[in-house]
Amino acid sequence: MGKFYLTTPIYYASGKPHIGHSFTAVFTDVVARRQKSKGKDVFFSAGLDEHGSKIEEKAKKENKDPQKFTDEIAQSYLSAWKSLGIEYSDFIRTTSEKHKNGVLKFVKKLWDAGDIYEGEYEGLYCVGCENFVLERNLVDGLCPDHLVAPQKIKEKNYFFNLKKYLPEIKKKIEKGELKIIPDSRKNETLAMMESGVSDFSVTREGLKWGIPFPCGNSPAGEQTIYVWADALINYATILGYPDGENFKKYWPPDLHIIGAEINKFHSIYWPAMLMSAGLPLPKEIFIHGLLTVNGQKMSKTIGNIIDPIELAEKFGADAVRYLLLSQFPASEHGDVKAEEFARKYNSDLANGIGNLLERSFTMMIDYRGGILDAKNGLDEKIKSSAEKTEKSYENNFENYKLYEALADVFAFIKKLDVYINREQPWALNKNKDEKLDVVLNTLLFGIEKIIVWLEPFMPSKIGEVKNHILKLQSGKLKKGEKLGLFPRI
Ligand code: MSP
Repeated sequence: MGKFYLTTPIYYASGKPHIGHSFTAVFTDVVARRQKSKGKDVFFSAGLDEHGSKIEEKAKKENKDPQKFTDEIAQSYLSAWKSLGIEYSDFIRTTSEKHKNGVLKFVKKLWDAGDIYEGEYEGLYCVGCENFVLERNLVDGLCPDHLVAPQKIKEKNYFFNLKKYLPEIKKKIEKGELKIIPDSRKNETLAMMESGVSDFSVTREGLKWGIPFPCGNSPAGEQTIYVWADALINYATILGYPDGENFKKYWPPDLHIIGAEINKFHSIYWPAMLMSAGLPLPKEIFIHGLLTVNGQKMSKTIGNIIDPIELAEKFGADAVRYLLLSQFPASEHGDVKAEEFARKYNSDLANGIGNLLERSFTMMIDYRGGILDAKNGLDEKIKSSAEKTEKSYENNFENYKLYEALADVFAFIKKLDVYINREQPWALNKNKDEKLDVVLNTLLFGIEKIIVWLEPFMPSKIGEVKNHILKLQSGKLKKGEKLGLFPRI
């Protein structure tokens, strides 16, 4: 038993979710469901990052009040997560009173620890990144991620004394007390620390859309809490930091799941803030690669944004969950092609698992009325192949290799197909050969394994399969009644 607290990043409420945001949400949901199936008391947090210059500017462009603007975006996230079957425990918005109050208390802790000092920032700021950037990281004067020239700013900021905590964080990462997965990202984090990380701002001057910074001698309203400090604290406020019941029960996070571009904030800034506030650190941070569509970053101008709701309408929630996670290993970046979805849907889902289940159940009902005789046992080769698959699947899952875990299951599905073709149950039936019982039992055994393995990925489809099996085994299934799991598209 025990608890398991896992999180998605809170996405910027600057636009509707695309399949990149959906990738992390689905990934986290699959891990959450697997933890629940192991009997863990799971808290799965999701939410939106609604403050900062980026959103202020976007709302202004649309002539909307920023709160109204983010209210609309929040609705689009809620519907997207609903249509993908994302079963979060709570959804935090950084404009909520609950969050704002928690942030103020948290920042006060940093202040009381003596870790916040007044300074001046002079340099470049990229609104797209919501981050200070260095001249040497620009390409032709533009931010390489947003292709926009950063703003030159000179402002009073309150800084957080990150340097004080770096040696301790480094030790924790090296020892695996703060486990960064995969190793390549752990090494990247250590390299960043090696090359020097400077103290970061916890406030900004002249930004209105955010939480006013109340500490020190600065009159309220002159400084606003920097959007990243505000955002990171969501992982605590969602649980009711500092004294909420959920906070007492679930803190610290067992797992943060994030994309590669926000590694520094989560693996360096956040642990330092927690140490300063006197809180235990997260146990694991899993960092996945980013996806591009047709070789390019998704953007309105390029017109290659894929909308998760449209995908779910076309393929169904569970198919989209599978299609997102089966494109490339999450430890790396990967490219996705919109046309590939339909092909992969037909080959893996309609013809793969859909067809295996349909033909197996049809034979069970046609040849045995759904009631199987177990006395002749199982095919040994399939049994041992299932054991091997299970081992590999579990090992992959432990390491958050969901693409690899799915590949294990789908390779096993192929094995069962080959098994059917080799054993030819239709011929065994015709010849009244007793081996038919072994084949049908073996198929049911294999299918029951597949069900357990796939349930976190395709919860509602697997629910349908389970009902179908119950009906089959209780003799209530009529001949010719189809499962129709993934109709061909
Ligand atoms: N608001 C910050 C996060 C604060 S968390 C305390 C932010 N928001 S974001 O809207 O830009 O979302 C970033 C996250 O969305 C990535 O880290 C990743 O989880 C997901 N993705 C957004 N685009 C993505 C891809 N193209 N590919 C995969 N995931 C991506 O940063």
